[in-house]
Amino acid sequence: MKAVLALSLLTSAVSGSVVFSLSTELNGQGIRKSWVVDRWKCHNLAEDGIDNQASWAFVDAGLANGCDLYDDADCKGRSLFVKKNNSNILGPGPVNLTDYNFDNIASSFSCV
Ligand SMILES: *[C@@H]1O[C@H](CO)[C@@H](O)[C@H](O)[C@H]1NC(C)=O
Ligand SMILES: *[C@@H]1O[C@H](CO)[C@@H](O)[C@H](O)[C@H]1NC(C)=O
Repeated sequence: MKAVLALSLLTSAVSGSVVFSLSTELNGQGIRKSWVVDRWKCHNLAEDGIDNQASWAFVDAGLANGCDLYDDADCKGRSLFVKKNNSNILGPGPVNLTDYNFDNIASSFSCV
């Protein structure tokens, strides 16, 4: 079962997607989740048990400019765009959502 999951993650990474991470405490602490997702697809955080709990976000690598976080499920409501890390110079690197008035707000995300 684990091997199958790892293989499917690898396959989607190869086909061009983005690695996105959220955590429930500042600075990548607390419960931390990472996803390999396709662009434009909406992902609801209730599925991961961290609805309205994210305090930190990091768009690591992949074929996307960044990811939008949304206040409501199904990528609706107020949103915050988090740019992809780019040497921490062109992009912000990891962000504390407290700095963007988006602490414990996100219910879904979509990478674009
Ligand atoms: C996020 O917050 C932590 C704790 O306050 C701090 O150590 C860290 O430098 C912050 N990171 C950013 C990117 O601002
Ligand atoms: C951001 O990306 C650069 C390479 O582009 C890498 O050297 C750096 O470690 C990354 N930052 C983090 C926090 O992973």
